[in-house]
Amino acid sequence: MSDAVIHDVLSGRYAVGDTVTVKGWVRTKRDSKAGISFVAVHDGSCFDAVQAVVPAELPNYESEIKRLTTACSVVVTGTIARSEGQGQQFEIQASSVAVIGWVENPDTYPMAPKRHSMEYLREFAHLRPRTNIHGAVTRVRNCLAQAVHRFFHQRGFYWISTPIITGSDTEGAGEMFRVSTLDLENLPRTEAGKVDYSKDFFDRETFLTVSGQLNVETYCCALSKVYTFGPTFRAENSNTSRHLAEFWMIEPEVAFAELADVAQLAEDMLKYVFKAVLEERADDMAFFAERVDKDAISRLQQMVDSSFVRMDYTDAIEILQNCGKTFNYPVEWGIDLQSEHERYLAEEHVGAPIILQNYPKDIKAFYMRLNEDGKTVAAMDILAPGIGEIIGGSQREERLDKLDERLAAMGLNKDDYGWYRDLRRYGTVPHSGFGLGFERLVSYVTGMGNVRDVIPFPRTPGNADF
Ligand code: 4AD
Repeated sequence: MSDAVIHDVLSGRYAVGDTVTVKGWVRTKRDSKAGISFVAVHDGSCFDAVQAVVPAELPNYESEIKRLTTACSVVVTGTIARSEGQGQQFEIQASSVAVIGWVENPDTYPMAPKRHSMEYLREFAHLRPRTNIHGAVTRVRNCLAQAVHRFFHQRGFYWISTPIITGSDTEGAGEMFRVSTLDLENLPRTEAGKVDYSKDFFDRETFLTVSGQLNVETYCCALSKVYTFGPTFRAENSNTSRHLAEFWMIEPEVAFAELADVAQLAEDMLKYVFKAVLEERADDMAFFAERVDKDAISRLQQMVDSSFVRMDYTDAIEILQNCGKTFNYPVEWGIDLQSEHERYLAEEHVGAPIILQNYPKDIKAFYMRLNEDGKTVAAMDILAPGIGEIIGGSQREERLDKLDERLAAMGLNKDDYGWYRDLRRYGTVPHSGFGLGFERLVSYVTGMGNVRDVIPFPRTPGNADF
């Protein structure tokens, strides 16, 4: 007899007649008139629950089995048998069922087995992992994360842990959460009346990181191929289905690489992880295709088979101006593209992912490499049909004089970037990288329309419970 995970029972790892013990939670229970109960037990190891067939002869049949409800925790021991029920090959003929935890007042259990709205489930972030949909999201999210690490490992990249507490604003957008141990009611002040952060924990002002990029560039300029994969934070007040205040980002950085090299890397990485999900999580993807987005599987397969289209920002502006469509936000060279523009390009004009490159320098961050035209920088965004931007990246400015010019033009103090400038002073190299928002990826893959439903505990304006 051995403890078994339900995935192994259902996939035929055990022989008919073997005795196993499974541990999990009741999904549903049905009592037959013939004095048998069918208890579906799940343990998170796969989408399906295993059916335990429980005979009335068990000593606790009347006292406990008949009282079981959804979410009770149980330990079931029995023999594997072929199932005559639909959809499953194997079931367990139970010889004992121990009830470990009861559900008090089942009528008010918030996760009763019926369809709940996503908004409702968000109010129960501690209980929603028990639902079919959040179980499936969790397994797909895990599969994607493992595939990302595998992809980079196979290509010789090193995973670098970059800090969460930082003194620099990588994106220069001023959307940072401050980290401080100062007493808010009794703030120390300088003579000029400003808050005196030299009295704070780190002897300076500090924030939660918006990106690990600047830190990972330092390791790139020594170990050649590196990446970060960690949480990042943005205090932008965007209440949309694509924005979180805390999200995970994957940021590779490659030495001796130009923009085109990392554009190809991004395309290869996306295809690799999509393939991994199709192969490894077929059960969950079938559920998403049935319940959430009928194209969930075909869309991913198309992405794996297609070539991403490369397009210049300047050409995209021309396409948008000449397409005959009226946009809420007027189109002219120099604008930051809005999601209505990105969606038109990816969904209606091309119908495939687009790698949009060479953006006007004035709408992009200071570290992006200036192109020969003096007007644009070697930046890229990858726009996916159905979700818009999922990747942002660039070739980095490796020339110290040009970097200093950009810092000055953007009103940034070069003394604040001393260590970053050193990388350009000591053996500088062309290098490039990108950032992939992990929740946008999971949301794209599953067809879940809102990033709040693909991260366990979403942080958005006004929401940090749990
Ligand atoms: O385009 P972004 O701001 O790029 C950077 O942070 C660069 N430092 C990356 C790099 O080159 N290493 O953000 C990158 C990606 C976006 O494409 C998007 O997928 C995601 O991060 N993202 C968000 N995801 C969820 N909520 C938010 N508030 C996000 N902001 C950006």
